[in-house]
Amino acid sequence: MVSLQPLTNPKTSPLYCHPFSPKTLKNKPKTLTVHSLLQYNRKPQLAGETPRVVVITSGKGGVGKTTTTANISLSLARLGLSVVAIDADVGLRNLDLLLGLENRVNYTVFEVLNGDCRLDQALVRDKRWSNFELLCISKPRSKLPLGFGAKALVWLVDALKGREEGAPDFVLIDCPAGIDAGFITAISPANEAILVTTPDITSLRDADRVTGLLECDGIRDIKMIVNRVRTDMIKGEDMMSVLDVQEMLGLPLLGVIPEDTEVIRSTNRGYPLVLNRPPALAGLAFEQAAWRLVEQDSMKAVMVEEEPKKRGFFSFFGG
Ligand SMILES: Nc1ncnc2c1ncn2[C@@H]1O[C@H](COP(=O)(O)OP(=O)(O)O)[C@@H](O)[C@H]1O
Ligand SMILES: [Mg+2]
Repeated sequence: MVSLQPLTNPKTSPLYCHPFSPKTLKNKPKTLTVHSLLQYNRKPQLAGETPRVVVITSGKGGVGKTTTTANISLSLARLGLSVVAIDADVGLRNLDLLLGLENRVNYTVFEVLNGDCRLDQALVRDKRWSNFELLCISKPRSKLPLGFGAKALVWLVDALKGREEGAPDFVLIDCPAGIDAGFITAISPANEAILVTTPDITSLRDADRVTGLLECDGIRDIKMIVNRVRTDMIKGEDMMSVLDVQEMLGLPLLGVIPEDTEVIRSTNRGYPLVLNRPPALAGLAFEQAAWRLVEQDSMKAVMVEEEPKKRGFFSFFGG
């Protein structure tokens, strides 16, 4: 059975009845299908004005921005929302690989800006979820196209808003690492941000710096995803807990993603984790995060527990 233990004092933390709460789990059979718990038996209510333009950023490289973009995008599409994901990591484009769409990218924004094709020709529609489209800025290993900058990306997003078939519900922008020109360009059209961090000091320092830059740019709606969390290491005090991370960054929490070898497997297969059935734990965590993104919900207190020797990772929230 899955074990759930609060990190905060359960007596002072009134839990509402979340699907992962002990109350809900109490009556479940041993072989519960976690997936059925995740589905809230209703459609999420889309909060905020659409399209919601969300940049996925971190400062540090390799913390999981592209993995987050791929999995959140497809989770949103599976919830019935229309999504365009923009790979703004120009030099190291790999969102197409994670999505298994690399052979379908014939045109990029580079060709659109050159006048060689229309915008809709550069949008790659996913055959699995037709309400998901991918847009790449340029060919892999190429430099930032001449003249491509903040203004061009803002123009692109405006063009997406004005499409004949209507504006998408979400535009997700996969941001490059660092805080230079590529970062400034990627954040320019966004009005919200997902900050991805791992619970280590270097990633946190970069995340803190990036938070300041986002706020300077007028992006005040910043939620964080803590990725690659290992409860065994947290227990052994070899890793910062999610609450520590929350205290350090002071940002609302969108999701906690466990370290999961399935993530690496899915990356190499070009088949996003959230499409796996039965779902992997990290896939479930991404689905939950997508749900909260839609409803503008976030966690106030996180509880993470894992039973020794058994593969279980759950987080839930209260307050
Ligand atoms: N939760 C996770 N568990 C295990 N591996 C992960 C997890 N998240 C990301 N990774 C791996 O980390 C590497 C970097 O992820 P990526 O999304 O490309 O980072 P970024 O876009 O920030 O550079 C990839 O090989 C990916 O499979
Ligand atoms: Mg990346």
